[in-house]
Amino acid sequence: MINLILLGLPGAGKGTVSEQIVDKYHLTHISTGDMFREAMANETKVGLEAKSYIDKGDLVPDEVTAKLVEERLAQPDIKEGYILDGFPRTTVQAELLEGITKRLNKSLTSVISLEVKEQTLIDRLSARFMCKSCGATYNKITKMPKEKGICDRCGGHDFYQREDDKPEVVKNRLEVNEKMNAPLKDFYQNKGLLTVIDGEQTPEKVFESVDAVLSK
Ligand code: AP5
Ligand code: MG
Ligand code: ZN
Repeated sequence: MINLILLGLPGAGKGTVSEQIVDKYHLTHISTGDMFREAMANETKVGLEAKSYIDKGDLVPDEVTAKLVEERLAQPDIKEGYILDGFPRTTVQAELLEGITKRLNKSLTSVISLEVKEQTLIDRLSARFMCKSCGATYNKITKMPKEKGICDRCGGHDFYQREDDKPEVVKNRLEVNEKMNAPLKDFYQNKGLLTVIDGEQTPEKVFESVDAVLSK
């Protein structure tokens, strides 16, 4: 059983490496950002609440986010383990997660932090674009669709830029997340769960490094 947390600032490559991990290990990918975006698209109560924070690049309140994660982790489809991508982001959330994993008997097995320089993050986020129909992630510089204008994953033709990838919002997102990041890493370092990986490498190399940790 692998129950993994992926830490990393916005644009560090959490979503990208999650896809590769899922292909090999069949873990359930739980991205709080993806869940919020889905809730926003469906205009649910949580979605409407989250939108006011996300559009500014602020964090959604800890309790709201933790509740969403607990409900997701309680689902019976998680068989081979899970990847938490983008949760926890604060030490309060990390503490709430301790309670959740205890209640559900799904304790963590490892925590990986993807480390990327701030300028690289800014470059990646400004070049990122997404498929409108399936949410697949692309990049104008490093990952264009194989066939121009057609999504590799679903064949869709429409793409968009995330609202929070606009330059004004990126600046605040990075600031907010950077403040929380060091204490969060310390939290898991102290528990002996943390491995740091160089996220500046190519996606293939990043996955190799992650795979080396997971296959131990
Ligand atoms: P979320 O959607 O999680 O955003 P994020 O943390 O800012 O991270 P990203 O999804 O932007 O980046 P990523 O690390 O997944 O990178 P990716 O693989 O796409 O959260 C959105 C918002 O929701 C938050 O701001 C907050 O408001 C709210 N929220 C979510 N969780 C919350 C929580 N726990 N508490 C409170 N609020 C919460 O890669 C980025 C780009 O780079 C892509 O174009 C990709 O193709 C490219 N790329 C990836 N890897 C590489 C590589 N190795 N080399 C070159 N290019 C690469
Ligand atoms: Mg992501
Ligand atoms: Zn698609």
